[in-house]
Order: sequence, then structure tokens, then C-alpha cells
Amino acid sequence: MVRLSTVALGLLYGLSNILGVVADSATLTDPAIDGPVGLGYAGINMTALLAAAENELGVNGTVTDNLPDDNYGAPGTTISARDLQKLQELRKRTYGRGIFGAIACLSLKILFPSKTATTGSSNYNQWNNPSFWSATTYMAPTCVFRPTSVDDISCAMKLITLSQADFNVVGGGHSAIKGWANTEDGVLIILSGLTGVKVKPGYAEVSTGERWGNVFTVLDQNKLMALGGRMSTVGVPGLVLGGGVSYLTNQLGFVADQVKNFQVVLANGWVVNANANANADLFRALKGGSSNFGIVTRVDLYTWPCPRGVYSGQLYFSDTRDYPKMFDAVYKYHTVGALADTQTHLISAFVYVSIPGVGGMHMGAFTAFRNISGSEVNPGPGPALQEIVDLNPTTKNTSTLQVRPYGTQAIELGAGDMNGLRQDMRDFSVYADNQLYKDLFQLWNETMIPKHGSKAGFMGTIAFQPITTKAVAAGTARGGNSLGLEGNTKTMAIINLTHQWGSAADDAAIIASLDEVLAKSIALAKARNLYHPYFYLNYARKQDNPIGSYGTASVNRLKAASNFYDPCKIFQCRVPGGFKIPGMSSC
Ligand SMILES: Cc1cc2nc3c(=O)[nH]c(=O)nc-3n(C[C@H](O)[C@H](O)[C@H](O)COP(=O)(O)OP(=O)(O)OC[C@H]3O[C@@H](n4cnc5c(N)ncnc54)[C@H](O)[C@@H]3O)c2cc1C
Ligand SMILES: *[C@@H]1O[C@H](CO)[C@@H](O)[C@H](O)[C@H]1NC(C)=O
Ligand SMILES: *[C@@H]1O[C@H](CO)[C@@H](O)[C@H](O)[C@H]1NC(C)=O
Ligand SMILES: *[C@@H]1O[C@H](CO)[C@@H](O)[C@H](O)[C@H]1NC(C)=O
Ligand SMILES: *[C@@H]1O[C@H](CO)[C@@H](O)[C@H](O)[C@H]1NC(C)=O
Ligand SMILES: *[C@@H]1O[C@H](CO)[C@@H](O)[C@H](O)[C@H]1NC(C)=O
Ligand SMILES: *[C@@H]1O[C@H](CO)[C@@H](O)[C@H](O)[C@H]1NC(C)=O
Repeated sequence: MVRLSTVALGLLYGLSNILGVVADSATLTDPAIDGPVGLGYAGINMTALLAAAENELGVNGTVTDNLPDDNYGAPGTTISARDLQKLQELRKRTYGRGIFGAIACLSLKILFPSKTATTGSSNYNQWNNPSFWSATTYMAPTCVFRPTSVDDISCAMKLITLSQADFNVVGGGHSAIKGWANTEDGVLIILSGLTGVKVKPGYAEVSTGERWGNVFTVLDQNKLMALGGRMSTVGVPGLVLGGGVSYLTNQLGFVADQVKNFQVVLANGWVVNANANANADLFRALKGGSSNFGIVTRVDLYTWPCPRGVYSGQLYFSDTRDYPKMFDAVYKYHTVGALADTQTHLISAFVYVSIPGVGGMHMGAFTAFRNISGSEVNPGPGPALQEIVDLNPTTKNTSTLQVRPYGTQAIELGAGDMNGLRQDMRDFSVYADNQLYKDLFQLWNETMIPKHGSKAGFMGTIAFQPITTKAVAAGTARGGNSLGLEGNTKTMAIINLTHQWGSAADDAAIIASLDEVLAKSIALAKARNLYHPYFYLNYARKQDNPIGSYGTASVNRLKAASNFYDPCKIFQCRVPGGFKIPGMSSC
């Protein structure tokens, strides 16, 4: 029998000597790892801390297990990987999982009283609510931890690992899947206080509490550009760790491909860098491996000069008779223009919006983008995008095409991003094909619009995003990523479905129709030999296993990296949501 408070005390005692956790497992000996950083809390009075823990925890809950009583860390002992395994065992046998979250939260509250908030407090409601983009993803963690430094996260990670609590981390909160960036039990680490964008020669250090809008604003002030999200409101970390499609993707690949260095807090609390020279396996793993390896606290992004800004803006098409011409032009851009002028970009989104009283309307919402070269006299869309810009002159006067600083394009698009709606995102991939694009659009149109098009707040979008062979090659040139696309020999397209609506009562019916669209679309692409098995992680549906879609070679690298950097499988087992590495041994 073990008193739970003894467990908590053991964890807190362990704090003084936690650095042994993974080192003891004898696998993490890579000299390239920077090594432990100081906790920065040398002034802690352990006696007082433990007394407070004992007092507050007040749990005399008893746990029946067959483990020896005395292995949870006495003062001065090291908590070893073996002890941790025992804790994990204990965890499985205890009745309420919540107790582990409670232990972690209590410890955090003692160490970080102003950065830890529990249910009912105003900080809890403020930190865990408005920062959320999607109404479908709200959850109620035991506590919310809002760090403001890497040391805070390092210390919290040690406590969380030792306490075996569930936890999760949220960056910009733009995941649409419930549980992916939140947790019902345990600790939610909210990164919004971890801010900073520092311009350095050739790159920028971006803390992962940032969203793209501020990153680009700082870059604009320095007449620089970097790869990043196309909407200002989206968070930096989720987008980069899943790949990241940017305005500069045709030339330079995914956003992750243009990361120079990741700073990461591992499960044992160590702060390490991952780049081409240090921890190169972790570096590659993070380019697409999502939340499986650690908490990424900073991404260093390569920058390029942007002395004259870009020519870009929105184009709206509301005459549905033009749709066939629009698809022709989109297909041509995917297979010709995007390769001929890699400094261009096109978002081609086909939208249906419900309009109260009227029903609704179809609309093409395109974003055309081109980096302006040094010598150009009269900057315009250029030959690659001219055909797109010339489509449907009747609505051309509503376009926002103009010469502008790079970052203002993402800010213009971000202005349309709304918080608090019901959200669904999903995607699949095909090889570029004009007729297939048209048929996929019609399949979506027929399945969704008659049934759901007039529901309150309904807005549905099907978008076609090319990934050219040049984009893939740009990633390879930077040492490769985890996405498994190296074998591509022709342009593929990510088909991305995003839907919003107002009422939870409509969730089931809308999602059932979307599941039907996805299944039929994939079947159609397969029947024409145009299916590509890749699921882009950042829009993928919960059940679509995007990491599995990277292929065996990539999955094997990811498994090896996980085993090395997280040997106790904290990120596999204690983070309840997020896309996991398939085929890892069970928790
Ligand atoms: C309006 C909108 C526009 C978009 N535009 C683009 C676009 O232009 N290009 C593109 O590629 N994608 C785009 N996306 C998709 C986007 O990449 C994903 O939604 C992405 O998850 C957003 O990142 P986030 O930090 O906001 O997400 P979050 O929901 O905070 O996190 C997503 C996942 O990453 C994990 N995570 C978060 N922070 C960390 C961290 N520091 N360390 C480890 N794991 C972490 C979370 O636990 C979660 O599993 C867009 C999405 C929306 C809703
Ligand atoms: C630590 O806290 C204990 C209990 O509150 C107290 O008795 C002791 O004097 C403190 N030690 C220091 C060094 O402040
Ligand atoms: C917890 O157990 C101890 C020892 O059995 C006892 O002295 C104490 O009163 C108990 N506390 C509570 C809150 O039940
Ligand atoms: C959507 O489908 C309907 C028939 O179901 C058709 O009349 C309409 O033209 C389609 N919309 C577009 C933009 O093609
Ligand atoms: C954008 O154009 C500028 C001016 O010609 C150039 O210096 C810069 O390298 C370009 N950006 C990229 C990402 O190539
Ligand atoms: C755009 O052009 C159409 C057709 O020429 C015209 O009816 C409409 O008023 C114009 N809109 C704006 C915003 O200028
Ligand atoms: C997915 O579609 C949305 C519009 O609904 C768009 O903002 C986003 O950029 C698209 N992503 C890709 C990769 O095409």
C-alpha cells in the first residue's frame, strides 16, 4: 500500500535530482546534445515545498498494488527510468487517472503560482478559452500552465514526466480535432506567453507562442521574408511541425524545410537544439513528425530579402458559369506556372456560403501571389498567373491585388478568420488532373450543398493545393523531411476540405456527409489511378493516420528518434491526442 501523498512527495523530492531520469536509461548519450540547463530555481526551500504539498494534497487515498513501497524517491535519491516504469505501472492500476494530473498541477502551482491556473479561476477561463479558434475543441484540463520561458517549460516537463500526468501543448490552437491540442485530464501547456521574434543574419528566431501575423510584421520592418502560414492568425508550432504550406512553397518546399534549427524541451526536461549538425535525426523527425518528440520552444527560420515587397491579393469569382474555365486555369497553373515561376503562389478555394433568407452562393476565392524581383519596372502577376488574373473580368474590380509588404497578404487573409465556430478540416491527395478536379468539386457540391448549404453559419470550402516536384526537391536539398514525398515524379495536389457551421446540433449530419464526400472522392481518384496516399497532417481527419502515410522508411526513422529522445514514451503515452507514430509498442 502506498499513500498517494507519498508518491507526490517522492516526485517533489525527485525534483532536486531529476536530471537522472533519462540519463539513467543509458540510451541518451549523444554528445551532440547540449546537456541539461539549470532550473533557475535554486532558491527553492524543499522542506517548505514538501510541507505545502503534503498539506494541500491531503489525499489519504490508498492504492493497492504489488510494488514495493519504498521506491518512489527518498530525499537525495535519483529517480531512475526503472522507477518511472514502476510509476507507469502504478498509474495503470490506480482507479482515477485524474490523480496524476492533480499531482502535477499541485506541484506546478507550488513552483509557479502565477503561471498555473486551476478550474474556476479567472486565469483558467481566460487562458483556456478565447485563444481557441474552434468551438469543437474546447476541453477542461485539471490545470492550465502558461510558461513565459524555456526554463519554465523544462521544469514543468520534469514534473509532468515524474508525475505521469496526462498533458498536452497548444500553440495557435488552430487544430480542428478535439483533444489534439487540449486534454480533459492533466496539464494543458499554453504557449501564448512564450513570445519573441529576433532577426539574425540570414534567419529569424521565432518563439513558438507566436502567430504568423506578428512574425511577418517583424520581418516586414526589416524588409525580409520567410516561409510561414498564409493566414496571420494561425500558430507557428503546429503548422511547422506538420509541414507547412507557404506562399513560397513552390520554390522552397514546406515551411519545415526552411527551418535552420529547432529548440526542443525533451520529456526529461533537457533543452536541446536540433539542426543539420546537432541531433540531425531529431531535426529531420520534427519536419512533419508533429508533437511526438518534445515541446518545441523556438524555430529558427531562414530569411530572404524582400526589398520591394510582393504583388498579391484576393480574387473573387461569383459567376458559376466560369467554373470550368477556372479549373482549366488552376490545373494549368499546377502543372506549368508553378514550375515555370516558382516565386508565385495560388490558393484556389471553391467556397459555398449560406446566406440567411436567400439560401447561399458559390464563389471562387483565390489568392494570387508573386515575389517582386529586383529589376522589375511595373510589377504584376507575371506570365504564370496572368490567365488566373484575367478570369471573369466582371468581378475583377473586387480584387485586392496590389504591390505590398510580404506580411500584409497573410494579415489580409487572417482578417477573415473567425473564432468560436464549429469546425471540420480534412484532406486527401491526388495527382494533378483537370477532369478529376472538376469531378471532385461536383461530388462535393452534390453531396454537401443541397443537404447542408442553407444551415445556419454554413461555409464549405474545397481547395486544391499543388505540391510540385520542385517543392519536394527543395526539401531534399535541405536534408529531407519526414513527409515521404521524395518519390514524386509529377505534381500532386492536396485537396483540402474546410467547413464551418454555427450549431452543435448539426455536427453529426454534416460530418456524416463529409465522410461520404471523402470516401467517394478517394474511390474516384483510385479508380482513375490518380490517388496519392499522402494525407497532409495539418488538415488531416483524426482517423486518417497521416504519419502512417509518410511510408515505412520515414515511419522507421520516426520510431528510432522517438525511442532515442523519449525512451520512456512520454509523448506517445501521456499526450492523449495528436497524430501518433503508428506501430510503436503499446503504452
Ligand atoms: C484558418 C486556417 C488557415 C490555415 N492556413 C494554413 C496554411 O496557410 N498553410 C498550412 O500549411 N496550414 C494552414 N493551416 C493548418 C495549420 O497548419 C494547422 O491548423 C496547425 O495545426 C496550426 O498550428 P497551431 O500552432 O495553431 O495549432 P495547435 O492546434 O496549437 O497545435 C496543433 C498540434 O501541434 C501540437 N503542438 C503545438 N505546439 C507545439 C509545440 N510547441 N511543440 C510540439 N507540439 C506542438 C499540438 O499539441 C497539436 O497536436 C490553416 C488552418 C486554419 C484553421
Ligand atoms: C525552509 O522551510 C522550513 C519550513 O517552513 C523552515 O523551517 C526553514 O527554516 C526553511 N529553510 C530556509 C533555509 O529558509
Ligand atoms: C491521513 O492519514 C493519516 C495517517 O493515517 C492520518 O493521521 C490523517 O488524519 C489522515 N488525513 C485525512 C485528511 O484523512
Ligand atoms: C452544383 O451542383 C448543382 C447540381 O446539383 C449545379 O446545378 C450547380 O451548377 C453546381 N455548381 C457549380 C458551381 O458547378
Ligand atoms: C524575393 O525577391 C527578392 C528581390 O529580387 C530577392 O532578393 C529574394 O531572394 C526573393 N525571395 C525569395 C524567397 O527568393
Ligand atoms: C464592379 O463591376 C461591376 C460590373 O462592371 C459593377 O456592377 C460593380 O458596381 C463594380 N463594383 C465595385 C465595387 O466597383
Ligand atoms: C485549405 O483551405 C483553406 C480554405 O478553406 C485555405 O485557407 C488553406 O490555405 C487551404 N490549405 C491548403 C494546403 O490548400
